[in-house]
Amino acid sequence: MKKSILCIGAGYVGGPTMAVIASRCPQWNITVADISEARIAAWNSSDLPIYEPGLDEIVQKVRGKNLFFTTDIARGIRENDVIFVSVNTPTKTFGAGAGFAPDLQYWESTARAILEHAGNDKIVVEKSTLPVRTAEAMHRILDNNHKKLHFDVVSNPEFLAEGTAIRDLLDPDRVLIGTMPGPSGNRAGDLIASIYQNWIAPEKIKRTNVWSSELTKLAANALLAQRISSVNSLAALCEETGADIEEVAQAAGMDHRIGKAFLRAGVGFGGSCFRKDILHLVYLAEQCGLPEVATYWRGVVEINDYQQRRFVQRVMNALFHTLAGKRLAIFGFAFKADTGDTRESPAAAIAKMLLEEHAKLAIYDPKAMANARAELASYGDAVEFSNSAAEAARGAHAILILTEWAQFRDFDYAGFYQQMEKPAFLFDGRNLLDHQMLHKIGFTVCPVGRPTLSV
Ligand code: NAD
Ligand code: UDX
Repeated sequence: MKKSILCIGAGYVGGPTMAVIASRCPQWNITVADISEARIAAWNSSDLPIYEPGLDEIVQKVRGKNLFFTTDIARGIRENDVIFVSVNTPTKTFGAGAGFAPDLQYWESTARAILEHAGNDKIVVEKSTLPVRTAEAMHRILDNNHKKLHFDVVSNPEFLAEGTAIRDLLDPDRVLIGTMPGPSGNRAGDLIASIYQNWIAPEKIKRTNVWSSELTKLAANALLAQRISSVNSLAALCEETGADIEEVAQAAGMDHRIGKAFLRAGVGFGGSCFRKDILHLVYLAEQCGLPEVATYWRGVVEINDYQQRRFVQRVMNALFHTLAGKRLAIFGFAFKADTGDTRESPAAAIAKMLLEEHAKLAIYDPKAMANARAELASYGDAVEFSNSAAEAARGAHAILILTEWAQFRDFDYAGFYQQMEKPAFLFDGRNLLDHQMLHKIGFTVCPVGRPTLSV
């Protein structure tokens, strides 16, 4: 077998994952292909299509050596025997399962392209997050072909988080490889494992059956998101009782059985994965005749929506029950820090709710301005896209912190305060800032799950 890999799908997963594999496996030649000409052109330019700390440096080192970006998918399929597929699998918006099930049209058209252009046996690796039993179905579709070619389908879900993708890929907690039963499936799994063994300890490379691997991806995301909804539900209780969610989460998290990670209260989780994958799990449970299981996991998404509505209601209540015509400075539009991605961003949902109340928004984000403009294009001059945080704050009634960018801590809030309408409010939707310091400046400070510091 040639030591060459094709990855179909040059997105947030395909691009960084292949860049890291190329950097750690110089003996492998890697081609990343996509139907989007614009995306491929950006990968081949100095302005990469996604922002991810450390990504530029890695791409610069390996691009043109053993990492290549192309739109020629057919050629890629002909010339490579190992094909990773990392196309998008968004929530279906039509037909059966609309709003819950994943839309598999991109995955299916990739499988068809592989079948059409393959001239020899292939190993197809599921990198995308897919329904349980997709690998099995794909194996049956691909393997029953008139060309008499043999296909192995391996599940190798990706666990990277945006903003820390390069770190997560270089030093993952585990790599999961699920294979179909039988010697051929095992051999395919061995080959994929041998790629990762170039930089990852063997004990971190976990082999399972293909169905466990597919379900683990949904389970891991559901369990992580469930912690955030749990802590956010407790934050609501804190606001009613005078308890402080930061103290509660810290003290509870000191129990090693609970652990301290993923207990940060805030405006809820965003990103392209959590909501989609939990709704997918809900759909799966319903399809399996397990309505109680479906209801349990649906609750995680419902608390997340509730948390965002509750945040907007707090802003309304504090600002004398009307937002009409009031300028609000929004600090942060990305769904989390260190990314420009705004998919399912709590900031986007909250901004739209505020605009429904006829607020005027001034938005500043270090990396997500282009996506923010696209997301709010229909709101016209009700939204200003500011060049700096100071510009957004000028003349505002309130500052809303909606993304946990570390650099927001270093701003000159005393200077902002001088330029704002009075009374000046600061709603810290991520409990990011020093609230006592802001209060001393003169702000009325409204954190999440902690008492308001009124002036
Ligand atoms: P993305 O939208 O950023 O990228 C997907 C790419 O696939 C796009 O560039 C699109 O043009 C391309 N594509 C679609 N159909 C194609 C086709 N037929 N042929 C060639 N290219 C095609 O998506 P993403 O965020 O990279 O996610 C990809 C998959 O990985 C999803 O299943 C997602 O659930 C999963 N995942 C994402 C993350 C994350 O943090 N974003 C983490 C883990 C897993
Ligand atoms: C997630 C999973 O972490 C990753 O393993 C999977 O591969 C893809 O989905 P991602 O969505 O990129 O990664 O980022 P993550 O760090 O999980 O954050 C998701 C959201 O939860 C963000 O909006 C973040 O701000 C929020 N969050 C996270 C909290 O509100 N509180 C926390 O304690 C942690």
